[in-house]
Amino acid sequence: MKTLYILLFVFAGLAVIIYAGEANKSLNGTTMALNKIDSVKVKKIKQNKGIGIGPVKKVKLGKIDANLVNEGKALFSDKCSACHSLDEEVEGPALRQITKQSKPEYIMNYLLNTTEMQKKDSQLKELIKKYNGEAMPDLGLKEPQARALLEYFRSAAR
Ligand code: HEC
Repeated sequence: MKTLYILLFVFAGLAVIIYAGEANKSLNGTTMALNKIDSVKVKKIKQNKGIGIGPVKKVKLGKIDANLVNEGKALFSDKCSACHSLDEEVEGPALRQITKQSKPEYIMNYLLNTTEMQKKDSQLKELIKKYNGEAMPDLGLKEPQARALLEYFRSAAR
């Protein structure tokens, strides 16, 4: 009988130790897990993107054009870098991989027809929700500027 009590006591002790360990682990992991879920969700949303709504129906892509990249890079630091960086989330999402996530037409149309796309594109509505309702302002870009920015993003993607 005594042995049984001892066994029970040891078992209960072990259970408490294991439980505390797990609880701690799951607390630490919560933030990471949340981030992961979030990015998986966003990725899935992006894969479905079509060409968006706007003047750009088809972009012909050739080899990366270095002059256009430089033009896009300058535009980016002038007009975008207040809210975007390539690798970090600022006011808006990190954009390094944007050409892998969205079609070139979609990216250009969003830059050229920002307000209408925000109203009508369900994926952008989701994205704006994710950014606490803060939508990107219409930046009044012209098509060649949007094209140069696209080239810059193409060159930046890994
Ligand atoms: C005042 C802040 C601000 C500026 C300036 C800005 N953006 Fe944004 N951008 C955002 C926010 C916030 C979002 C996410 C919500 C949304 O789309 O409205 C976003 C979203 C985007 C997206 C969509 C990303 C996706 O995952 O689909 C692209 C592409 C983009 N921006 C490119 C640019 C480029 C290029 C410029 C410069 C010409 C620029 N942005 C300037 C705030 C900004």
